[in-house]
Amino acid sequence: MNRRAPEKNELDPIETASRDELHALQLSRLKKTLAVCYENVAHYRKTFDEAGVHPDDLKSLSDLGNFPLLTKQDLREHYPFGMFAVPREQVVRIHASSGTTGKPSVVGYTRADVDLWADLMARSIRAAGGRKGDIVHVAFGYGLFTGGLGAHYGAERLGCTVVPMGGGQGAKQVQLIRDFKPDIIAVTPSYMLSLAEEFTKQGLDPADTSLRIAMHGAEPWTNKMRAEIERTFDLDAVDLYGLSEIIGPGVAQECIETKDGPTVWEDHFYPEIINSETGEVLPDGEVGELVFTSLTKQAMPIVRYRTRDLTRLLPATARSMRRIEKITGRNDDMMIIRGVNVFPSQIEELLLKDACLAPHYLLEIGKEGPLDTLTIKVETRPGVHQDSPDDRDRCAAKLVEAVKVCVGVTTRVELMEPSAIPRSMGKAQRIVDKRQL
Ligand code: DLL
Repeated sequence: MNRRAPEKNELDPIETASRDELHALQLSRLKKTLAVCYENVAHYRKTFDEAGVHPDDLKSLSDLGNFPLLTKQDLREHYPFGMFAVPREQVVRIHASSGTTGKPSVVGYTRADVDLWADLMARSIRAAGGRKGDIVHVAFGYGLFTGGLGAHYGAERLGCTVVPMGGGQGAKQVQLIRDFKPDIIAVTPSYMLSLAEEFTKQGLDPADTSLRIAMHGAEPWTNKMRAEIERTFDLDAVDLYGLSEIIGPGVAQECIETKDGPTVWEDHFYPEIINSETGEVLPDGEVGELVFTSLTKQAMPIVRYRTRDLTRLLPATARSMRRIEKITGRNDDMMIIRGVNVFPSQIEELLLKDACLAPHYLLEIGKEGPLDTLTIKVETRPGVHQDSPDDRDRCAAKLVEAVKVCVGVTTRVELMEPSAIPRSMGKAQRIVDKRQL
């Protein structure tokens, strides 16, 4: 495999600046952001006043912890344009988060915001090992979702040739990948697995494509899933993180040379980790909820947004900026089964350890009397113990045991035939909660 990390002279100077330089830049940008929010956004003025804090009170980066947190609910209450800090006429683009219920949260971009986003996605693609002249196949969805257009503008900004395929149409995806010979694909990890199946269905080996790099994000995926994708396609799969409320993809990107969790582009987004229950700021290295403050956004600057993503801040490695540990769960993805907290990623890790099981699964929560039940529906790999009920039983029992030992909860396992679980074209829906039915 032809892997290439960027040379130092290809990076933005701030990517290798000293921590002191970075802190000075963050502090001056943070002061400006707080002042702009207080002046121009009624919500911030109100909540800062209620908390008895004023932008002038911020003397150091750690003072940010005294300012109020912002939630998705706050954004919804100001639907659609109430959080904008500029007149609507200056907003050149709208996106919206993929809320499954109720009103989506709307985000706006000025011309400068769109430019910044393109710069940061270009930086991300470069960190992933991409370079000018590469062909980038974008299979994230286009539209209100930020994945497609975010990757698209970034690839153009880096000087790549973009194929704006979008999600879905598996057969067409395969044809274009074969004919255009892209170097990079930007796609959710779950849809990447569907593409692998499409190749196989057509009698093709996914390992034979021109692809060198897969940029995956928009949903949690484990290192086991990474290994599966890298083996199947013979490429490097790296983690791209972001969320609409902050800018979209390009908030953090894993560097190809280290593959040790996404580096946060800290010159534009200031990360904190808090205790979800108390709101207290936790020191680096401790696991909690990720909170972001934008440092340079114009249309919709964001102060202390609670992402609900669980992770921890790790020291800088490939760049001067800190990393986040690969996100394996969200607060709201956590299932509580008979008092035990369970994340889908824990189950994913375990089932992918068994060579007989495929990375296609669903977690069904039900109720029996007063007790919650968890059923893992997982496909077997094509051709595996099709005719041997004993082997199937052994395989299911092995997973039940592994989950009991490692996660501490008793589950049922239903082995499914290949292709029995519905495939996603974007973010995979792993949990089906039947308790409300
Ligand atoms: O998913 C933006 C995006 C597009 C990121 C393409 C990466 C690639 P939202 O739809 O607002 O925006 O969803 C944001 O998705 O809070 C996480 O829970 C999850 N997420 C995003 N990237 C990752 C990742 C886009 N690399 C929400 N790993 C976030 C785990 C991720 N979860």
